[in-house]
Amino acid sequence: MLCECRPQVVISLGALLIIVWVVRLLAVHDGVLTLLFEGSNRQQAESVFVTQAMKVEFPAPIDYKPIQEVCARTQFRPGLIFSCEGQHGGIGMLRNQILKCIRYAIHGGGAVVIPSITLRNAGDLSDIESGKQMSLDYLLDREAFITHLTEGCPGMHLYERAEDFPYYSQRAREPLTIVGDQFEPIHPREGLRHPREWRNFFDNWLDQQSVKLRSDIPVHVKFEQSFLEYPVRDDGEAFVHEFGKILSFRKDTRALAAKVLFELKERFALPIDPANAINPNTFYGAHLRLEEDAIWAWPPDEWRYSRMEEQFGEQFQNLERAGLDVVYVTSGNQTVVDLFTEALNRRLAASPRSDRKNVTVVTKYDLLKGKDRQLLDSFTFDQQALVDFMMMFKASAFMGVAHSSFPWNVALRRHELSKYADYANEGSDLLRDEYSIIMGMAADYPHVDPFVYAIWP
Ligand SMILES: *[C@@H]1O[C@H](CO)[C@@H](O)[C@H](O)[C@H]1NC(C)=O
Ligand SMILES: *[C@@H]1O[C@H](CO)[C@@H](O)[C@H](O)[C@H]1NC(C)=O
Repeated sequence: MLCECRPQVVISLGALLIIVWVVRLLAVHDGVLTLLFEGSNRQQAESVFVTQAMKVEFPAPIDYKPIQEVCARTQFRPGLIFSCEGQHGGIGMLRNQILKCIRYAIHGGGAVVIPSITLRNAGDLSDIESGKQMSLDYLLDREAFITHLTEGCPGMHLYERAEDFPYYSQRAREPLTIVGDQFEPIHPREGLRHPREWRNFFDNWLDQQSVKLRSDIPVHVKFEQSFLEYPVRDDGEAFVHEFGKILSFRKDTRALAAKVLFELKERFALPIDPANAINPNTFYGAHLRLEEDAIWAWPPDEWRYSRMEEQFGEQFQNLERAGLDVVYVTSGNQTVVDLFTEALNRRLAASPRSDRKNVTVVTKYDLLKGKDRQLLDSFTFDQQALVDFMMMFKASAFMGVAHSSFPWNVALRRHELSKYADYANEGSDLLRDEYSIIMGMAADYPHVDPFVYAIWP
């Protein structure tokens, strides 16, 4: 019996052992799989989120129709090429200069050299004019610019360099130089009074220079830098919204901004849907303009909001009103961010225990890790600012000062989603809507540049 059943027992025991081991191996393997799966789950979630967030052109994809309509009013002609000279400053200033140069070139009916950008002196932030020329993709998506402008303005041809223009070597003279507003020397705050006459003024001016346009003897006209003198609203609301979108931020900065947003969502469990332009009840966006170039340009003894405590005070009040717990701060100066955090914590600690809130201040440096952080660190001051620009678009509430073009660019773009048609609302004479506030009143500043009339969001 025993002899007979022993092999069975052995086989059974062996089978049992095999089953036990297979189960153990599978279990361990399964554990490893689960770990791998969780890791790749997060990675996958991040990648889906980033792709989706990058696809969202803020606050809506470009619609070429209004641009095509404006371009159709111009007759483009051969033998004339424009270039945009000396674009400099931070992204807010740059956008205005480039868009305006292109707008004049549309009026003028000529081809355009793809604009370049003057590099800021990294050792002296206030030195924005003397640096070397960088390609457009230093800050902006060059391919997108070409695509958008070609679609929007089919009559306008773009060239890499003026020398690539047909018959350029046969041109009759050295390039002519022009400033966009030179035909209207007295320009009111609201900008040029007769923007639609620009073509006539320009053609008369060409006549005075004895220029006859011929395709085989071309003329090169250089637009010198100018800022905030073109009344953007003259072309109508729809054009104002779409035209600015021909300038899209460079792709790697858009990807980083999407990652910052993802990290913010994960770390604070915020209800951020990347498909939405603005998600309510997520985070507060504070732009602090207190870097040394700002203090230099707008001295604190004259400019109330160049005083740190005044600028912080407005932000704190607005933060309390907004009732948000996460503050995303943008500033080109980390010391300013630290001082802001300390001041906020003091203020919170001094508030009654019953309504004391737990507010966390973060920057892109706190949120990006590993390779992403390395990429961010490799960027210049102005490239890093692009990440914040996009983060500010997405904040549930945003505030900045009136003397900087950065907050105006952000607030005007966000205003497209507002229920208010006008900019100044809810007791402000600057810009205040349900998404953004430009702090204070006009009287709080020695003067306010006419950003609302002259910035394409
Ligand atoms: C940064 O801010 C601090 C505090 O206001 C200031 O002392 C310092 O000069 C600033 N540095 C730069 C580079 O802006
Ligand atoms: C405040 O919030 C942070 C981030 O959500 C959290 O880590 C911390 O524990 C909170 N502190 C208190 C006192 O609730």
